[in-house]
Amino acid sequence: MACSSSVKLMLLLPILVSSLIVATVGNLNQNFDITWGDGRARKHGRGWEGAAPESDAARRGVRRLTRLPARFQSKNEYLFGKIDMQLKLVPGNSAGTVTAYYTFEFLGNLSGDPYILHTNVFSQGKGNREQQFYLWFDPTADFHTYSILWNPQRIIYSVDGTPIREFKNSESIGVPFPKNQPMRIYSSLCNADDWATRGGLVKTDWSQAPFTASYRNFKADACTWSSGACSCSSTTPSPSNNSSSWLSQELDSASQERLKWVQKNYMIYNYCSDTKRFPQGLPPECGA
Ligand SMILES: *[C@@H]1O[C@H](CO)[C@@H](O)[C@H](O)[C@H]1NC(C)=O
Ligand SMILES: *[C@@H]1O[C@H](CO)[C@@H](O)[C@H](O)[C@H]1NC(C)=O
Ligand SMILES: *[C@@H]1O[C@H](CO)[C@@H](O)[C@H](O)[C@H]1NC(C)=O
Repeated sequence: MACSSSVKLMLLLPILVSSLIVATVGNLNQNFDITWGDGRARKHGRGWEGAAPESDAARRGVRRLTRLPARFQSKNEYLFGKIDMQLKLVPGNSAGTVTAYYTFEFLGNLSGDPYILHTNVFSQGKGNREQQFYLWFDPTADFHTYSILWNPQRIIYSVDGTPIREFKNSESIGVPFPKNQPMRIYSSLCNADDWATRGGLVKTDWSQAPFTASYRNFKADACTWSSGACSCSSTTPSPSNNSSSWLSQELDSASQERLKWVQKNYMIYNYCSDTKRFPQGLPPECGA
Protein backbone atom coordinates (compact mmCIF):
# COMPACT_ATOMS: atom_id res chain seq x y z
CA MET A 1 0.00 0.00 0.00
CA ALA A 2 1.25 3.48 -0.79
CA CYS A 3 1.42 6.08 1.92
CA SER A 4 1.53 9.17 -0.18
CA SER A 5 1.79 11.99 2.28
CA SER A 6 2.71 12.64 5.86
CA VAL A 7 0.31 15.37 6.82
CA LYS A 8 -0.38 15.15 10.52
CA LEU A 9 -3.98 15.47 11.42
CA MET A 10 -4.89 16.44 14.90
CA LEU A 11 -8.11 14.67 15.54
CA LEU A 12 -9.02 16.21 18.82
CA LEU A 13 -8.85 19.80 19.86
CA PRO A 14 -10.53 19.75 23.24
CA ILE A 15 -10.83 22.87 25.26
CA LEU A 16 -8.16 22.64 27.88
CA VAL A 17 -8.23 24.43 31.16
CA SER A 18 -5.42 24.24 33.65
CA SER A 19 -6.85 22.26 36.48
CA LEU A 20 -6.44 19.23 38.63
CA ILE A 21 -7.44 16.24 36.61
CA VAL A 22 -5.82 12.88 36.97
CA ALA A 23 -5.47 10.13 34.42
CA THR A 24 -4.19 6.75 35.36
CA VAL A 25 -2.50 4.87 32.64
CA GLY A 26 -1.59 1.23 32.49
CA ASN A 27 1.24 -0.34 30.58
CA LEU A 28 1.04 1.90 27.57
CA ASN A 29 4.49 3.41 27.44
CA GLN A 30 5.60 1.19 24.59
CA ASN A 31 3.09 2.88 22.36
CA PHE A 32 2.45 6.31 23.84
CA ASP A 33 4.24 9.46 24.99
CA ILE A 34 2.91 11.83 27.58
CA THR A 35 2.64 15.21 25.95
CA TRP A 36 1.09 17.30 28.68
CA GLY A 37 1.40 16.82 32.36
CA ASP A 38 2.80 18.73 35.25
CA GLY A 39 6.43 18.24 34.27
CA ARG A 40 6.99 15.83 37.10
CA ALA A 41 5.43 12.93 35.30
CA ARG A 42 7.97 10.52 33.88
CA LYS A 43 8.21 7.08 32.49
CA HIS A 44 9.10 4.51 35.03
CA GLY A 45 9.49 0.80 34.57
CA ARG A 46 6.52 -0.52 32.67
CA GLY A 47 4.30 2.44 33.41
CA TRP A 48 4.25 6.15 33.99
CA GLU A 49 4.80 7.80 37.27
CA GLY A 50 3.89 11.18 38.60
CA ALA A 51 4.85 12.80 41.85
CA ALA A 52 1.44 12.07 43.31
CA PRO A 53 1.29 10.37 46.67
CA GLU A 54 1.19 6.58 46.64
CA SER A 55 -2.31 5.45 45.92
CA ASP A 56 -4.03 2.12 45.60
CA ALA A 57 -3.75 2.51 41.86
CA ALA A 58 -0.02 3.13 42.00
CA ARG A 59 0.49 0.13 44.22
CA ARG A 60 -1.41 -1.98 41.73
CA GLY A 61 0.98 -0.85 39.01
CA VAL A 62 -1.34 1.63 37.36
CA ARG A 63 0.52 4.89 37.20
CA ARG A 64 -0.92 8.23 37.96
CA LEU A 65 -0.38 11.62 36.41
CA THR A 66 -1.32 14.66 38.34
CA ARG A 67 -2.02 18.37 37.78
CA LEU A 68 -3.17 18.20 34.27
CA PRO A 69 -5.09 18.39 31.67
CA ALA A 70 -3.74 14.94 31.04
CA ARG A 71 -2.82 14.03 27.54
CA PHE A 72 -0.85 11.34 25.83
CA GLN A 73 -0.21 10.55 22.20
CA SER A 74 0.89 7.51 20.25
CA LYS A 75 4.53 7.33 19.26
CA ASN A 76 3.52 5.98 15.88
CA GLU A 77 1.51 7.59 13.14
CA TYR A 78 -1.01 5.21 11.66
CA LEU A 79 -2.50 5.01 8.22
CA PHE A 80 -5.32 2.46 8.34
CA GLY A 81 -5.64 -0.05 11.09
CA LYS A 82 -7.75 -1.88 13.56
CA ILE A 83 -7.16 -0.18 16.83
CA ASP A 84 -8.55 -1.17 20.21
CA MET A 85 -8.30 0.43 23.61
CA GLN A 86 -10.00 -0.42 26.87
CA LEU A 87 -11.29 2.52 28.86
CA LYS A 88 -12.95 2.98 32.19
CA LEU A 89 -14.43 6.43 32.50
CA VAL A 90 -14.50 8.93 35.35
CA PRO A 91 -17.03 7.60 37.87
CA GLY A 92 -19.51 9.51 40.02
CA ASN A 93 -20.06 13.17 39.25
CA SER A 94 -18.08 13.64 36.04
CA ALA A 95 -20.17 16.54 34.75
CA GLY A 96 -18.09 19.01 32.77
CA THR A 97 -15.29 16.59 31.98
CA VAL A 98 -14.53 15.14 28.59
CA THR A 99 -12.50 11.98 28.22
CA ALA A 100 -11.22 11.72 24.69
CA TYR A 101 -9.64 8.83 22.89
CA TYR A 102 -8.89 9.11 19.18
CA THR A 103 -12.17 10.08 17.54
CA PHE A 104 -14.28 9.06 20.54
CA GLU A 105 -15.22 11.72 23.07
CA PHE A 106 -17.08 10.89 26.25
CA LEU A 107 -19.07 13.73 27.79
CA GLY A 108 -19.37 13.30 31.54
CA ASN A 109 -22.50 13.77 33.61
CA LEU A 110 -23.92 13.99 37.10
CA SER A 111 -23.88 10.77 39.14
CA GLY A 112 -26.41 8.34 37.72
CA ASP A 113 -27.01 10.36 34.54
CA PRO A 114 -25.74 8.93 31.30
CA TYR A 115 -22.52 9.78 29.54
CA ILE A 116 -22.80 10.80 25.90
CA LEU A 117 -20.44 9.18 23.41
CA HIS A 118 -19.67 11.74 20.71
CA THR A 119 -18.06 10.69 17.42
CA ASN A 120 -16.97 12.62 14.37
CA VAL A 121 -15.25 11.74 11.11
CA PHE A 122 -12.55 14.05 9.81
CA SER A 123 -11.09 14.18 6.37
CA GLN A 124 -9.02 16.90 4.78
CA GLY A 125 -9.13 18.69 8.13
CA LYS A 126 -12.92 18.93 8.19
CA GLY A 127 -15.34 17.19 10.50
CA ASN A 128 -18.98 18.26 10.91
CA ARG A 129 -20.09 14.63 10.76
CA GLU A 130 -21.18 14.14 14.33
CA GLN A 131 -23.14 11.27 15.75
CA GLN A 132 -23.91 10.89 19.44
CA PHE A 133 -24.96 7.89 21.45
CA TYR A 134 -25.89 6.75 24.90
CA LEU A 135 -24.23 3.49 25.94
CA TRP A 136 -26.10 0.35 26.94
CA PHE A 137 -23.97 -0.12 30.06
CA ASP A 138 -22.36 1.99 32.76
CA PRO A 139 -18.97 2.93 31.24
CA THR A 140 -17.57 3.87 34.66
CA ALA A 141 -18.18 0.52 36.33
CA ASP A 142 -15.68 -1.45 34.33
CA PHE A 143 -13.36 -1.43 31.33
CA HIS A 144 -14.94 -1.63 27.88
CA THR A 145 -13.28 -1.91 24.49
CA TYR A 146 -13.60 0.97 22.05
CA SER A 147 -12.38 0.17 18.55
CA ILE A 148 -11.83 1.80 15.22
CA LEU A 149 -11.54 -0.20 12.05
CA TRP A 150 -10.12 2.09 9.39
CA ASN A 151 -9.42 0.63 5.98
CA PRO A 152 -9.58 2.09 2.47
CA GLN A 153 -13.28 1.26 2.10
CA ARG A 154 -14.77 2.28 5.42
CA ILE A 155 -14.38 3.44 9.01
CA ILE A 156 -16.26 1.45 11.63
CA TYR A 157 -16.57 2.46 15.28
CA SER A 158 -17.32 -0.38 17.69
CA VAL A 159 -17.95 -0.75 21.37
CA ASP A 160 -17.25 -4.19 22.84
CA GLY A 161 -17.35 -5.58 19.31
CA THR A 162 -20.75 -4.04 18.52
CA PRO A 163 -20.55 -1.59 15.62
CA ILE A 164 -22.14 1.76 16.41
CA ARG A 165 -21.20 3.72 13.31
CA GLU A 166 -20.02 3.06 9.79
CA PHE A 167 -18.62 5.72 7.48
CA LYS A 168 -18.22 4.36 3.99
CA ASN A 169 -15.79 5.60 1.42
CA SER A 170 -18.01 7.72 -0.86
CA GLU A 171 -15.27 9.26 -2.94
CA SER A 172 -17.15 8.16 -6.04
CA ILE A 173 -19.75 10.82 -5.23
CA GLY A 174 -17.17 13.42 -4.24
CA VAL A 175 -16.98 12.93 -0.47
CA PRO A 176 -13.39 13.12 0.82
CA PHE A 177 -12.22 10.02 2.63
CA PRO A 178 -9.17 9.99 4.91
CA LYS A 179 -6.58 7.84 3.20
CA ASN A 180 -3.52 9.98 2.73
CA GLN A 181 -3.04 11.30 6.24
CA PRO A 182 -1.20 9.19 8.79
CA MET A 183 -2.62 10.01 12.20
CA ARG A 184 -1.45 9.92 15.73
CA ILE A 185 -3.76 8.70 18.42
CA TYR A 186 -4.40 11.26 21.12
CA SER A 187 -6.02 10.65 24.44
CA SER A 188 -6.90 13.28 26.96
CA LEU A 189 -8.99 14.16 29.93
CA CYS A 190 -10.01 17.75 30.16
CA ASN A 191 -12.46 20.26 31.48
CA ALA A 192 -15.12 21.40 29.01
CA ASP A 193 -17.91 22.56 31.26
CA ASP A 194 -18.79 25.38 28.91
CA TRP A 195 -20.40 22.86 26.53
CA ALA A 196 -20.14 19.24 27.55
CA THR A 197 -22.89 18.44 30.02
CA ARG A 198 -26.44 19.37 29.08
CA GLY A 199 -24.95 21.83 26.67
CA GLY A 200 -22.88 23.56 29.36
CA LEU A 201 -25.63 24.01 31.94
CA VAL A 202 -23.99 21.66 34.45
CA LYS A 203 -20.57 22.81 35.63
CA THR A 204 -17.61 20.79 36.85
CA ASP A 205 -17.74 20.22 40.59
CA TRP A 206 -14.09 20.64 41.55
CA SER A 207 -14.74 19.27 45.03
CA GLN A 208 -14.95 15.89 43.25
CA ALA A 209 -11.37 16.21 41.86
CA PRO A 210 -9.15 14.42 41.13
CA PHE A 211 -11.01 12.88 38.21
CA THR A 212 -9.65 9.56 37.04
CA ALA A 213 -10.03 7.77 33.73
CA SER A 214 -8.14 4.57 33.04
CA TYR A 215 -6.77 3.21 29.79
CA ARG A 216 -5.37 -0.24 29.18
CA ASN A 217 -4.72 -2.99 26.61
CA PHE A 218 -3.97 -0.85 23.60
CA LYS A 219 -3.86 -3.04 20.51
CA ALA A 220 -3.08 -1.97 16.97
CA ASP A 221 -3.14 -4.06 13.83
CA ALA A 222 -2.15 -1.20 11.64
CA CYS A 223 -0.02 0.35 8.98
CA THR A 224 2.59 2.51 10.61
CA TRP A 225 4.16 5.53 8.99
CA SER A 226 7.81 5.99 9.80
CA SER A 227 10.61 8.00 8.14
CA GLY A 228 8.81 8.23 4.85
CA ALA A 229 7.79 4.59 4.62
CA CYS A 230 4.71 2.66 5.46
CA SER A 231 4.74 -0.78 6.98
CA CYS A 232 1.70 -2.82 7.82
CA SER A 233 2.10 -5.19 10.66
CA SER A 234 0.20 -6.82 13.41
CA THR A 235 0.93 -6.78 17.10
CA THR A 236 -1.61 -9.54 17.58
CA PRO A 237 -1.09 -12.29 15.04
CA SER A 238 -4.11 -14.52 14.96
CA PRO A 239 -3.82 -18.31 14.95
CA SER A 240 -4.88 -18.30 11.33
CA ASN A 241 -2.11 -15.77 10.68
CA ASN A 242 -4.54 -13.67 8.77
CA SER A 243 -3.30 -10.51 10.35
CA SER A 244 -4.21 -8.15 7.55
CA SER A 245 -7.79 -9.22 6.99
CA TRP A 246 -8.85 -5.96 8.65
CA LEU A 247 -7.66 -4.23 5.50
CA SER A 248 -10.68 -5.52 3.65
CA GLN A 249 -13.01 -6.21 6.56
CA GLU A 250 -16.65 -5.21 6.28
CA LEU A 251 -19.78 -5.68 8.36
CA ASP A 252 -21.37 -9.09 8.00
CA SER A 253 -25.14 -9.34 8.22
CA ALA A 254 -25.17 -10.08 11.97
CA SER A 255 -23.04 -6.97 12.58
CA GLN A 256 -25.32 -4.90 10.39
CA GLU A 257 -28.26 -5.99 12.54
CA ARG A 258 -26.40 -4.94 15.68
CA LEU A 259 -25.52 -1.60 14.12
CA LYS A 260 -29.22 -1.04 13.41
CA TRP A 261 -30.09 -1.98 16.98
CA VAL A 262 -27.66 0.61 18.36
CA GLN A 263 -28.79 3.30 15.97
CA LYS A 264 -32.45 2.67 16.73
CA ASN A 265 -32.14 2.50 20.50
CA TYR A 266 -29.09 4.52 21.51
CA MET A 267 -28.37 7.14 18.89
CA ILE A 268 -29.32 10.60 20.13
CA TYR A 269 -27.89 12.80 17.39
CA ASN A 270 -27.13 12.17 13.74
CA TYR A 271 -25.91 14.97 11.48
CA CYS A 272 -27.56 13.10 8.62
CA SER A 273 -31.00 13.77 10.14
CA ASP A 274 -30.32 17.41 11.01
CA THR A 275 -32.17 19.14 8.23
CA LYS A 276 -32.19 22.44 10.18
CA ARG A 277 -28.43 22.46 10.16
CA PHE A 278 -28.19 21.76 6.45
CA PRO A 279 -31.01 23.79 4.89
CA GLN A 280 -29.32 23.52 1.48
CA GLY A 281 -29.62 19.73 1.66
CA LEU A 282 -27.96 16.98 3.66
CA PRO A 283 -24.31 16.11 2.90
CA PRO A 284 -24.10 13.69 -0.05
CA GLU A 285 -22.77 10.74 1.98
CA CYS A 286 -26.00 10.77 4.01
CA GLY A 287 -27.95 9.39 1.08
CA ALA A 288 -25.25 6.93 0.08
C1 LIG B 1 -26.80 13.99 31.21
O1 LIG B 1 -28.03 13.64 31.77
C2 LIG B 1 -29.15 14.33 31.23
C3 LIG B 1 -30.37 13.92 32.02
O2 LIG B 1 -30.56 12.53 31.96
C4 LIG B 1 -29.27 14.00 29.75
O3 LIG B 1 -30.30 14.78 29.19
C5 LIG B 1 -27.95 14.31 29.04
O4 LIG B 1 -28.03 13.86 27.70
C6 LIG B 1 -26.81 13.59 29.73
N1 LIG B 1 -25.50 13.74 29.12
C7 LIG B 1 -24.85 14.89 28.94
C8 LIG B 1 -23.46 14.79 28.45
O5 LIG B 1 -25.35 15.97 29.14
C1 LIG C 1 2.54 -14.91 9.41
O1 LIG C 1 2.64 -13.88 8.41
C2 LIG C 1 3.81 -13.12 8.49
C3 LIG C 1 3.73 -11.98 7.48
O2 LIG C 1 3.09 -12.38 6.29
C4 LIG C 1 5.02 -14.04 8.26
O3 LIG C 1 6.21 -13.29 8.35
C5 LIG C 1 5.03 -15.11 9.34
O4 LIG C 1 6.10 -16.03 9.11
C6 LIG C 1 3.71 -15.86 9.34
N1 LIG C 1 3.66 -16.79 10.50
C7 LIG C 1 3.31 -18.05 10.39
C8 LIG C 1 3.31 -18.84 11.66
O5 LIG C 1 2.96 -18.57 9.32
C1 LIG D 1 -8.23 -14.43 5.56
O1 LIG D 1 -9.06 -13.27 5.39
C2 LIG D 1 -9.81 -13.30 4.19
C3 LIG D 1 -10.52 -11.94 4.05
O2 LIG D 1 -11.14 -11.55 5.25
C4 LIG D 1 -10.78 -14.50 4.24
O3 LIG D 1 -11.54 -14.52 3.06
C5 LIG D 1 -9.97 -15.78 4.38
O4 LIG D 1 -10.84 -16.88 4.51
C6 LIG D 1 -9.06 -15.70 5.60
N1 LIG D 1 -8.17 -16.87 5.65
C7 LIG D 1 -7.98 -17.56 6.76
C8 LIG D 1 -7.00 -18.67 6.67
O5 LIG D 1 -8.55 -17.32 7.82
